[in-house]
Amino acid sequence: MERTAGGGLGLVDKLLIKGGISLNGAIAVSGAKNAALPILAGTLLSAEPVVVRNVPQLKDVATTITLLQSMGVEVTFDDKLNVEANAGNVVDRRAPYELVKTMRASILVLGPLVARFGEADVSLPGGCAIGARPVNLHVQGLEAMGADIKVENGYIHARADRLRGAHIVFDTVTVTGTENLMMAAALAEGETILENAAREPEVIDLADFLSAMGARISGAGTSAIKIEGVRELHGTDYTVLPDRIETGTYLVAAAMTGGKIRLDRAAPDHLEAVIAKLQEAGADIQFGDKSIEIDMRGKRPKAVDIRTTPYPGFPTDMQAQFCAMNAMAEGVGTITETIFENRFQHVLELQRMGADIQIEGHTAVCRGVKKLTAAPVMATDLRASAGLVLAGLAAEGETLVDRIYHVDRGYERIEEKLRQLGAEIRRVVG
Ligand code: EPZ
Repeated sequence: MERTAGGGLGLVDKLLIKGGISLNGAIAVSGAKNAALPILAGTLLSAEPVVVRNVPQLKDVATTITLLQSMGVEVTFDDKLNVEANAGNVVDRRAPYELVKTMRASILVLGPLVARFGEADVSLPGGCAIGARPVNLHVQGLEAMGADIKVENGYIHARADRLRGAHIVFDTVTVTGTENLMMAAALAEGETILENAAREPEVIDLADFLSAMGARISGAGTSAIKIEGVRELHGTDYTVLPDRIETGTYLVAAAMTGGKIRLDRAAPDHLEAVIAKLQEAGADIQFGDKSIEIDMRGKRPKAVDIRTTPYPGFPTDMQAQFCAMNAMAEGVGTITETIFENRFQHVLELQRMGADIQIEGHTAVCRGVKKLTAAPVMATDLRASAGLVLAGLAAEGETLVDRIYHVDRGYERIEEKLRQLGAEIRRVVG
């Protein structure tokens, strides 16, 4: 079955994984999904061509490209997924429900559309498996910048002559909220300050991309970002940073299978909280300037306690993976999820594989078992599915993970990369 533009395959695919094999070898990390998505949305801010490199081949990238094309942006990409976008002739300023419902990150076109064209009609993303995930902070920020916004019939209708700078304090740290308003502020009249801003590396990458287009941004990566609006932004050629969550996921795969792997084209300094926890679990980790190597040969991980918080704290996107590791680790580990209200769906499936995990409110108490046992399981969201794949790699027997279109949204060629590390895994169609 040939690949779609986003590297995803069919909606009914499953992954069949033979567990118990220690991973070994080296793979290259792909570009970061959560940087590529805002950066691609940011191409709307200029009438000149923009080249974005190291874009991962993912379903969510394909969806974003389709959304941009539906607006009139000319988007081309080569087989190395260098994407060229030209938003010189944007005729449609809408993000329809049919597309937004498949990918909530579509909300990232809202800020650029209002900033450059003074209008946008973007479908509300709606909830998702991990929580309600409202976008009220995005809307409130744009209103503070002078946009007139009506939310009706499931759409955000935004209008503005020209946005003007504002001093915005986020009630909650929001990654895409920070990104949307940073993009809006780039073309607003005057200065915008974003307080309690998200500090993720992907926010910094977006700021660097916008600056390469001529935006005037300072403080990205801190909780206070200052943006001096300019009249227009020019084209640029930008390379997306490595995906720290993909990197962390493979590090946990090696930890759970007692393997030794090296990840190339990585950004070690974006994974401090994750690496500290892997070292606590007993991993020996070595660093190159663009590589990370983990050695867990002959070892069973020790259970660790995790509490997810905004960057630079422990990332919520690594919670399911550590839940899977704790499930087969030595001892008892607690995992507290503070960002999303319903991000323990992987626990139900891990329990079917023999995990001994009790959920008490926002905390999962994991009593490690010596061996998980294979079972047919079902993915429910992107990172939960990653956790199930990891559990399958460590379990006794053959695990069949269903609904792996969730995996294809965030992991480029996952079965190829795992096979490169010695795993026995294949995609089962239908
Ligand atoms: C981004 O989602 C990531 N997605 C998520 O990654 C990640 O889990 C999340 O940040 C947290 O790190 C992308 O970058 C595309 P938030 P985002 O706004 O921006 C509440 C993955 O696996 N909130 O930082 O949607 C919200 O409900 C995905 O790759 C409001 O209340 O997350 C949540 O509880 C999953 N109002 C908290 O803030 C708002 O207006 C953090 O959400 C916005 C957010």
